[in-house]
Amino acid sequence: MAKTDRPNFGSKLGIILASAGSAVGLGNIWRFPYETGNHGGAAFILIYLGCVILLGLPIMISEFLIGRRSQTNTGGAYSVLAPGTQWKWVGRIGVLAGFLILSYYSVVAGWTLEYLLQAVTNSFAGKSTNDFIASFQSFSGNPWRPLVWLVIFLLATHFIIVKGVEKGIEKSSKMMMPALFILILILVAYSVVLPGAEKGIEFLLKPDFSKVNGEVFLGAMGQAFFSLSLGMGSLCTYASYFGKNMNLTKTAFSVCIIDTMIAILAGFIIFPAAFSVGIQPDAGPSLIFITLPNVFQQAFSGMPALAFVFSVMFYVLLAVAAITSTISMHEVVTAYLHEQFNMTRKRAANFVTGCCIFLGIFCSLSLGATKEYTLFGMSTFDLFDFVSTKIMLPLGGLLVSIFTGWALDKKIVKGEITNYGTLKGSIYPYLIFLLKYIAPVAISFIFINELGFLK
Ligand code: PFF
Repeated sequence: MAKTDRPNFGSKLGIILASAGSAVGLGNIWRFPYETGNHGGAAFILIYLGCVILLGLPIMISEFLIGRRSQTNTGGAYSVLAPGTQWKWVGRIGVLAGFLILSYYSVVAGWTLEYLLQAVTNSFAGKSTNDFIASFQSFSGNPWRPLVWLVIFLLATHFIIVKGVEKGIEKSSKMMMPALFILILILVAYSVVLPGAEKGIEFLLKPDFSKVNGEVFLGAMGQAFFSLSLGMGSLCTYASYFGKNMNLTKTAFSVCIIDTMIAILAGFIIFPAAFSVGIQPDAGPSLIFITLPNVFQQAFSGMPALAFVFSVMFYVLLAVAAITSTISMHEVVTAYLHEQFNMTRKRAANFVTGCCIFLGIFCSLSLGATKEYTLFGMSTFDLFDFVSTKIMLPLGGLLVSIFTGWALDKKIVKGEITNYGTLKGSIYPYLIFLLKYIAPVAISFIFINELGFLK
């Protein structure tokens, strides 16, 4: 495709909402609360905020400028900016990470549809805690049901991708993101006034540093990369569709603020509600599928209509957040195949959807029917999560920061930050400092520490 024929987003608002749509997802509403719960609450959140500001923001700006300057997908961008070098592998690792994350993420995204159906058909009503545990185990262990939802979810993502950048990604984000903001605010308002909610609020706001160790840092860093969609080129690919007049720094700030706000607001939905009915916050990945429906029933026990509305809204929220993220992962791989291998967009998308359904089946079954088969002590699902989130994304982030901080011509970096002289770009010296020194040292340190070399 000739460069001038590349699709573009149609408006600035569309760009911000699509990028925020990529960032805001199950990472905020499913992963952030359980990681916070497992790592002791407020102290984890503070370290997380440090990771967002010192690592996430500069790396997001880097991904934006690499994408917009190269005008191509992440898998090809590094060959455009640093031809004939090995930097091309950064983009390719990103594409692979995209495949892996999309495959296991869609499994959980599929669960949100099952729970939405259960909420709509009022199946939570009258169930006890043990019923919820049993029903989640029987659902996730069922060989077929989760697979059907997985396929439905990936086909919905596929449908939007095939429609293209402006008519598919941008239009759907513009409809779904405002709905998501409204839903989340309503749910927070419900949750924080529940009796006993204060304990949950305290858990989110009062740090206990005695629980902080290397694992907490790795967890917070991995979560920051995952939540901000960094390290695998989603935002790099989106930025290749940005207009020349888009202020990259401002866009990155907006996306980081929206994403962080939503993660913390999700905490304000989940923890006050959980503490209000005396449920511990460290239930892990099943938190929002076992604990929450139970919480909804107990918290609104005398008010079945409210329990019904709250549950339906929550799972709608989750499904909407998930699909705006899966389209951004799908786009990374689809754009790569389309542009690098001369496939039509439709064929590329067919291929990606087909492969992800295939891999997703293994991830899904590994939580039920094939549970006893593990690799390095992990199920396929956990292995995909560990390798992609805790290794590939931070590694991608590390390489992006070294690339922009050290290898890329500074005229390009400054030019993209200032839109070639039209913006002030006063962030530039700080950005370079963070990318050159802070991000590489911090990421390497957390990595080395956690992989056991310093123990
Ligand atoms: N940021 C998404 C979330 O928080 O759910 C997940 C994600 C999307 C990760 C896109 C990576 C990515 F490239």
